Amino acid sequence: MISDKLKLMKEKALESIESASDLTMIEMVKNQYLSKKGEISLLMGELRNLNVEERPAFGQMVNQLKLEVEQALYDKKALLEEEALFDALKNEKIDVTLPGVKLYQGSIHPLNQVIEDVEDFFIGLGYEVAEGPELENDHYNFEMMNLDKDHPARAMQDTFYTDETHLLRTHTSPVQARTMLDKKGSPLRIICPGKVYRRDDDDPTHSHQFMQIEGLVIDHHIQFANLKDVLLKLAQHLFGKDRVIRLRPSYFPFTEPSVEVDVSYVKKDGTIGYIEVLGAGQVHPNVLQMGGYDPSKFQGFAFGIGVERIAILKYRIDDIRHFYQNDLRFLDQFKGVNR
Ligand code: PHE
Repeated sequence: MISDKLKLMKEKALESIESASDLTMIEMVKNQYLSKKGEISLLMGELRNLNVEERPAFGQMVNQLKLEVEQALYDKKALLEEEALFDALKNEKIDVTLPGVKLYQGSIHPLNQVIEDVEDFFIGLGYEVAEGPELENDHYNFEMMNLDKDHPARAMQDTFYTDETHLLRTHTSPVQARTMLDKKGSPLRIICPGKVYRRDDDDPTHSHQFMQIEGLVIDHHIQFANLKDVLLKLAQHLFGKDRVIRLRPSYFPFTEPSVEVDVSYVKKDGTIGYIEVLGAGQVHPNVLQMGGYDPSKFQGFAFGIGVERIAILKYRIDDIRHFYQNDLRFLDQFKGVNR
């Protein structure tokens, strides 16, 4: 009897499905019965051997069988997949006590740490931070700073020219001129950090490229005492309350009078020594005039801090070139300093 044959096939198929213990075995059973040449598909071929009246009933039975086998396969597959998931969850426990992977963490470059520290100090005093281009016009770098074309003081600073009128700025002072013109005669207080360039041979204390922080204050009733006061406070902010400053007469074409400023330190033998950290002075009347300020009504002071000098003193660094070589053995020592 045909129906017995189908019944037997169904039992056999269900049994194989029942006993399948993983997804590959399920796949094999599926192929065996349901693929194009599978046992159930081949049954349909037998339709031809039946007479016409028997065909619909037979077709229906085969379809029914097919549906049942498919359903059984589907259920078993779902069951096995769930089991596999549970197994995976059981085996893949996460040990939350394992130490994490350490990522390398960079830090702020020591020169930028000094700049940020000085910026914070001056912003607290109401100064603004100004900027200017590194490729500067001769006009701002020299002329507006009271150094005309054949001024002898140019020789010390003459540097990298790109054409007749453009050069890599030799100091941050041109930002004084630019800011004065911007402010169109109103009082100002600025600092300006940035890179500068000089015709220097590199050695432990010289670099052809280094950093400065320019300061400029212009207002009514500005006296030399105001400059002295702010520089003393800056030195104590940077190096400690026990420090004092010493001013020595000096010369800059853009300030009059001009000074070099030294900061005190305790020498190995216990006596007090002084180290130069910046140049400063009262703004020269010519500079005020060129910048659009009437020198009979306005006064000002200016200073130029050597950033590397401050960092070298603060962190006791023996060679200026360390700052520019990006050696992590050097840079890593400044992690968390100042913060
Ligand atoms: N521009 C001077 C220099 O580079 C420093 C300075 C700035 C001096 C401002 C006085 C006033 O040496």
